[in-house]
Amino acid sequence: MDNTDQYLLNFKGYNFDLPVVDVDFLENLEDFEIRDDDVFIVTYPKSGTIWAQQILSLIYFEGHRSRTEIVKTIDRVPFLEYNIHKMDFLERPSPRLFCTHLPYYLVPKGLKSKKAKIIYIYRNPKDVLTSYFHFSNLILAMQATNNMEEFLEKFLDGKVVGSLWFDHIRNWYKYRHDFNILFMMYEEMKMDLRSSVLKISHFLEKELSEEDLEAVVKQATFTNMKSDPKANYNDILRNEVGTRYDGHFMRKGVIGDWKNYLTVEQSERFDRIFQRKMKDFPLKFIWDVKKE
Ligand code: A3P
Repeated sequence: MDNTDQYLLNFKGYNFDLPVVDVDFLENLEDFEIRDDDVFIVTYPKSGTIWAQQILSLIYFEGHRSRTEIVKTIDRVPFLEYNIHKMDFLERPSPRLFCTHLPYYLVPKGLKSKKAKIIYIYRNPKDVLTSYFHFSNLILAMQATNNMEEFLEKFLDGKVVGSLWFDHIRNWYKYRHDFNILFMMYEEMKMDLRSSVLKISHFLEKELSEEDLEAVVKQATFTNMKSDPKANYNDILRNEVGTRYDGHFMRKGVIGDWKNYLTVEQSERFDRIFQRKMKDFPLKFIWDVKKE
């Protein structure tokens, strides 16, 4: 009954979340018209998409920074392939902000003009795995698993939405010169949010005043996002996507939570695969916060 086929749509070699994806849209994705001032957040699931959505929304919308406008982040920075509010993207005023989990080879070809900007957020994959394990058990649109071992197997086989983490990051990095792209690390954002926001705003050529920068940083912290109904997705999860229990999209937001969920054996197995698959990969990862 609860089988993988109910949840995954394999389209051109990549797994989409079947209950929420619009297949007709996928068919025409390659030709989706890109504007020069479009901005895309690209992530593998559970790498901090919602966080980057919040940061972008705060950077671009004065009314968000000043809290004078009540618009949900998802409506300011919608998912391209999971357009749950059925927004007419062609009607949206510029600059349009989007997020996506697409692999490099499925994105609209207009992105290769290198004018539109892409921010790729990546996170150490053991924390991605841990976050993903909880998330797929939480929401009805994903297949639940009985334990971490079961989920780990699925993750390492790429039998999850987003397919293989290793392929996603490796290929986006490999083909980075085809795009106008900035790579940002979740852990760096966590350790120094202010510098990260500055780096992002600089890349977007949206220089912020000191006051605006403060407002962005303040409203993009985990604690503030978790308690902000515009930012925390609680409403969407409960009332639109549906959940299996009373959990949160904004779960813990920390570095190194994998240590609480992976056994030593699982962690070492992961390390062996990581070392094999990510050999020669130049980006570094932060797996834990060093304690003094
Ligand atoms: P955890 O489940 O480890 O808590 P995505 O949006 O790609 O699905 O990523 C969700 C993950 O990012 C969740 O991880 C969530 O808590 C974390 N996250 C979201 N906003 C954050 C923030 N402001 N600071 C730190 N982590 C954040």
